[in-house]
Amino acid sequence: MPAPPITDEKLKETVECFEKNNGRTKDVAHELKISEGSVRTRIKEAKKRNIIKSEEEVVSKPPFWINELPDSDLPAEELVKRGLERWDRKEKAHNARKLINVNLRKQLDGIFGVAIIGDPHLDDDGCNWRKITEDNKAMVDSGMVAINIGDLSNNWIGRLMSKYADQETTRKQAIKLIEWYLSKTGVYWAGVIGGNHDFWGHEHGNVLDFIMRTQPGVYENHGFRLNLLCPNGRQVRLNCRHDFKGNSQWNESHSVSKAARFGTDDIYAAGHRHISGYQIVKDHETGKISHAVRVAGYKEIDDFALQKNFRDHKIWESMCFIIDPYQDDPLRFIKPVFSLQEAAEELKWKRKKT
Ligand SMILES: [Fe+2]
Ligand SMILES: [Fe+2]
Repeated sequence: MPAPPITDEKLKETVECFEKNNGRTKDVAHELKISEGSVRTRIKEAKKRNIIKSEEEVVSKPPFWINELPDSDLPAEELVKRGLERWDRKEKAHNARKLINVNLRKQLDGIFGVAIIGDPHLDDDGCNWRKITEDNKAMVDSGMVAINIGDLSNNWIGRLMSKYADQETTRKQAIKLIEWYLSKTGVYWAGVIGGNHDFWGHEHGNVLDFIMRTQPGVYENHGFRLNLLCPNGRQVRLNCRHDFKGNSQWNESHSVSKAARFGTDDIYAAGHRHISGYQIVKDHETGKISHAVRVAGYKEIDDFALQKNFRDHKIWESMCFIIDPYQDDPLRFIKPVFSLQEAAEELKWKRKKT
């Protein structure tokens, strides 16, 4: 008995599969679980019965196809999963840095100093090493908590690399100096900021970042907010940035004061411009007093400043806030002193007195 003729439905199913697989009879045979010969017979029959679309339509299709190539990258679903996990990690890290607690130990119960240290530029030929040495001694002698405002070295990059011709210290020696400065002087750095010079060309990890990982303090590019937790429960909030946004030809501390005027922290500090300035700000509504200071740093002889005729407005390289967490009077709670030597003497004298 001859085999019954194949139905139109079967032929349609074969044609659809044939078109889906771009005419690869082997794949069609595999999918429909029939032989390749049967596929060819069915396609022939489908043409006879006009089940395959008109010749014109077939001709309008591209005259070739590419076999499917495997993708070397992750599928979209995996990328979405990874994105969600990354966001959770990133958000957690970002939020943890909005205000970083610095827990002061019992040994700082009472009056203590917070030193705001200006741009060191340790490898610059115009760096005032005499002053750096004196200030380090003052900080160590009086046990100050130190904040470094950034630009620890010149770290010239790009076309500025030619400026290494104008300085004695090589990059290798500069790294040695940075390591010494941050870990060997006996100064306790509660926080070190990466200034523009520090992270130039090293946005994804610079030497300061690596050195500070072995130190008790924090390191952040651009700036940070620190919350000093005194042993008696008093808190002092410091908002430090390499620089704050804003400019005024009349006031060297303008951008820092502006941040203080619109903010709620106790101390605002910046460096970067190699000039000094200070302003004390009172919040009209709450009566809160904030201090805004700019420290000039140690790059004292600067060819670029001479060339551009920048006004010399270095009054202090670094300064200190003397903090007495037992005082209610705001002027005795936080007191600025614009010389680390003076601040060290005052701290030692006041500690002896109590
Ligand atoms: Fe800077
Ligand atoms: Fe600087």
